[in-house]
Amino acid sequence: MKFDKVYCGKAAEYLKTIIPFEPEIGIILGSGLGPLSSSIEDPIVIPYADIPNFLTSTVSSHAGKMIFGRIAGKHIMCMSGRFHYYEGYNFEQLVLPVRVMKLMGVKTLIVTNAAGGANPSYKPGDVMIIKDHIKLNGASPLRGPNCSEFGPRFFDVSDMYTKSLREMALDLAKTSKLTFHEGVYFYMPGPQFETPAEIRAIQIMGGDSVGMSTVTEALAAAHCSMKLLGFSVISNMAAGVKNEALTTEEVDDVTEAISENFSAYIASVIENIQ
Ligand code: HPA
Repeated sequence: MKFDKVYCGKAAEYLKTIIPFEPEIGIILGSGLGPLSSSIEDPIVIPYADIPNFLTSTVSSHAGKMIFGRIAGKHIMCMSGRFHYYEGYNFEQLVLPVRVMKLMGVKTLIVTNAAGGANPSYKPGDVMIIKDHIKLNGASPLRGPNCSEFGPRFFDVSDMYTKSLREMALDLAKTSKLTFHEGVYFYMPGPQFETPAEIRAIQIMGGDSVGMSTVTEALAAAHCSMKLLGFSVISNMAAGVKNEALTTEEVDDVTEAISENFSAYIASVIENIQ
């Protein structure tokens, strides 16, 4: 299966028959961050199941709908519910949503996730602006025949989390009610949370937050030259950092508790995207 312009184009063509504008910003919401979508003005909601050649979400905290509308006066498209390797998708399949966004006209992608805090100075409810990521597991989502209509075979990822956007996001963080950091997201395939020994290894390697998503979308965005900004909402301290077991309830409760302040912050970020 090749996720090329013809295949991804089927989804985009369908969406274009419904959406009367070109979204300039794409947003992918992480676990428990669905409430952020309520800040979208004049929303047009399309279930993933209605979109030809799209994937379907299998996780209960991920809604499975594409929402078009406006935030801070800008046209956006927002995925409420994302796809993960642990659901059974191949890395190669996970490029599809980002390529559909590209074909819809998206220039800047904002990715959000709920993540464990590996950096012991972080606290649940803090937000980490993603400076860079580490993915040592599995293949690249860009493995296989290259789709040159989206980007080149070999591509630079030394500034994939766009520096100017990170600087703007850090600046706006000063006036947010939330506590912000800038750090490195460490990808783990899940679905199990990590062992304490894995977290100790991740800390030594330079990971500040740890999660099971985001990097595939980020790499697909870098491949097709989208600007990119990423946020980890620290929903729990990673395994072994505190002497407590991790639960998904904790992840959803913390992300929900900050979602109002986080939505306001994301709206200010969107307002400032050029
Ligand atoms: N590890 C991996 N993924 C996560 C975590 C975690 O601690 N919290 C939320 N998503």
